[in-house]
Amino acid sequence: MPAPTIWLAPLRGVTLAPFRRLLAERFGGVDAALAPFAALGSSEKVPARIFADAAASLGGPLPTVPQVIGRDPAALRAAGRVLRDLGFERMDLNCGCPWKFVARKGRGSGLPEDADAFARMLEAGCEAMPGGFSIKVRLGYRTPDTLAARADLINSFPLRCVAVHPRTGAQMYGGAADLDAFAAVLPLLRAPVVYNGDIASPADAARVLARFPSLAGIMVGRGLCARPGLAAEIRGAPPAPREAVAAFARDLAAEYAAALCGPAPLLGRLKELWGYLHRSFEEGDDGLRRIQRAADPDALFSAVEALTGRPARP
Ligand SMILES: Cc1cc2nc3c(=O)[nH]c(=O)nc-3n(C[C@H](O)[C@H](O)[C@H](O)COP(=O)(O)O)c2cc1C
Repeated sequence: MPAPTIWLAPLRGVTLAPFRRLLAERFGGVDAALAPFAALGSSEKVPARIFADAAASLGGPLPTVPQVIGRDPAALRAAGRVLRDLGFERMDLNCGCPWKFVARKGRGSGLPEDADAFARMLEAGCEAMPGGFSIKVRLGYRTPDTLAARADLINSFPLRCVAVHPRTGAQMYGGAADLDAFAAVLPLLRAPVVYNGDIASPADAARVLARFPSLAGIMVGRGLCARPGLAAEIRGAPPAPREAVAAFARDLAAEYAAALCGPAPLLGRLKELWGYLHRSFEEGDDGLRRIQRAADPDALFSAVEALTGRPARP
């Protein structure tokens, strides 16, 4: 049996193109990534620039699938055309975003709650990206039974894969991923299924893969942001040295400093990154407090150097 695919899950503001490229180059072990979502409106005019982040990974070391969020089938068809023109053969629809203001508008984890709207989007996506359309879903928005109730509908479309994060939208990221609910829904889905949620160590991955041998893959988000060598470790490599993690962060900071305008966006981007990456270091919790208090990038770099003992300035 081929080894299951290891996906990098999308984290908006964190798993951006430079992160994806450096992750693959420095640590390996990851087969593919979903890009953070690009939002579609209700217009058929979909500008190619909303896919700039995903497009920056075309031809790079980590194959990246663009993701969209929305509920308008015409906009989804237009997005498919734009993506094919850019050279993509795959497109993913976000059916899992938990934020209230998104879900209440019937987008993200709110979309599968409306069976008709969901069906129209599945149809449009499969037509727009033949053979390459996938979805990322939760168990439901308020209750954990929506996905199971939509299984027949999902099975009536030729999806490339379905990534399942077994929480409800209302749960956000609280509590634990519900592996028993996942076990109940897995046999109902005909498309290849990718498991996503709370994989933070090689042991977590081994447990999921042993319990669900039919999985097409696992998708790891926060775990890989906290421990960039995790995918390689899942494949049997030793833990990445701390120096490699510190160098990864420094080189990422250099790319962000070159791409972002001014200190405030850079500070925000790096605080978000270190919100996860501090876990790679023993004194991580104390170090994070200092990092989060930094008023400018220089103070942040000093806090990072105190935590890692390595140069942090780009
Ligand atoms: C800050 C943040 C941003 C996220 N952005 C996206 C996104 O753009 N698209 C998406 O499908 N999921 C998004 N997610 C959800 C993750 O992809 C993933 O499903 C979730 O974190 C659970 O997996 P994990 O436990 O491996 O992190 C985001 C999660 C977080 C915490």
